[in-house]
Amino acid sequence: MEVDRRAFIASLGGAAAVSAMSSEAKADALEHYMEERLDEMVAQNQQAGQPEKFPTVKEIEDRIEKSNVRRGAGSLFASQRGNVKKLEPMPKNATLLDFYRLRFEPANHVLQSATRALKTGMSEEIVLACLMHDVVLNLIKPDHGWWGAQLIEPYVSEKVAFAVRYHQTLRFYPDPEAGYEYPDQYYRIFGVDYTPPQYIEDTYKMLKNHKWYMEPRMVTVNDLYAFDPNAKVSIEPFIDIIGRHFKTPKEGLGNDNTPSSHMWRTLARPDNPL
Ligand SMILES: [Fe+2]
Ligand SMILES: [Fe+2]
Repeated sequence: MEVDRRAFIASLGGAAAVSAMSSEAKADALEHYMEERLDEMVAQNQQAGQPEKFPTVKEIEDRIEKSNVRRGAGSLFASQRGNVKKLEPMPKNATLLDFYRLRFEPANHVLQSATRALKTGMSEEIVLACLMHDVVLNLIKPDHGWWGAQLIEPYVSEKVAFAVRYHQTLRFYPDPEAGYEYPDQYYRIFGVDYTPPQYIEDTYKMLKNHKWYMEPRMVTVNDLYAFDPNAKVSIEPFIDIIGRHFKTPKEGLGNDNTPSSHMWRTLARPDNPL
C-alpha cells in the first residue's frame, strides 16, 4: 500500500507532533494508519458493490524484489514495523510461559485460537495444539506446520505434535461438514489462482484417511475465526493445561539437549550472528 506522507503526518497532528514521538510510537502509528487505510479501501470497494480484489500469484511474485526481507523470515528476525527491538534476555531456566512473554509477544493469534477452542469444548490436547500451532512463525514461516511440530515434539504427546504438523496442510482444503472453509486470507497471501504444491496434496490424501484427521482439522476450525484485533486474551486460562500436557525440562527450554533444543536457543538469542 502506498503511504501518503503528508496525509499521514497531518493525521498525527503535524510535523512538530511527529518529531516529539519515539520511533516505536511512530512505527505503531504508521501501522495503525495503514490498517485504517486498508479498512477504508475495503469499505469503498464494498460500497461500490465490488468484491475485494485479490492479487494473483504473479502479482505476489512481483513484490519479491521490492523488499529487503524474504517473506519466509520469522517475525523475530524481520520486523514489519521499522527496526527490530532489543530483546530482554531469557531467564536461565526458561519455561514455555517465559517464551510467550518474552519472544512470542503479543501471541494474539494463537491465544485467540486457543480461547475459541476452550469455549467450544475441545479436548485439552487440541487446546494446547491451538495455543502452539503458529508460534514457530517467530522463527521461520515456510513449512511452519512441520517446523512447529518439531519444535514441541520432545515435550508434548504425539497427538498434539500431529495436530500442529498437519494444520498447515488442512488450511488449504475446505471441510464444510467440520465447519472449515477456504480462508479469504489465503487469496491475499498466496494469490487467488494459487494451487498447493504436490507434497501438500500428497499429505492431504494421507490425512483424509488417517484416524487422527480431526486433530489438525480442529486446529484449522479454530484458526479461521481467530484474527480479531480487539479481542482481549491472555495466557492465564491455559497455565494448567500447559502444566498437564507440556513437559517443561528442569534445565530450561534450550538447555535440555533434545532434537529441538537448538530451535529454542535460536528463539532465545536471535541476535547471535552465527
Ligand atoms: Fe498456521
Ligand atoms: Fe493460525
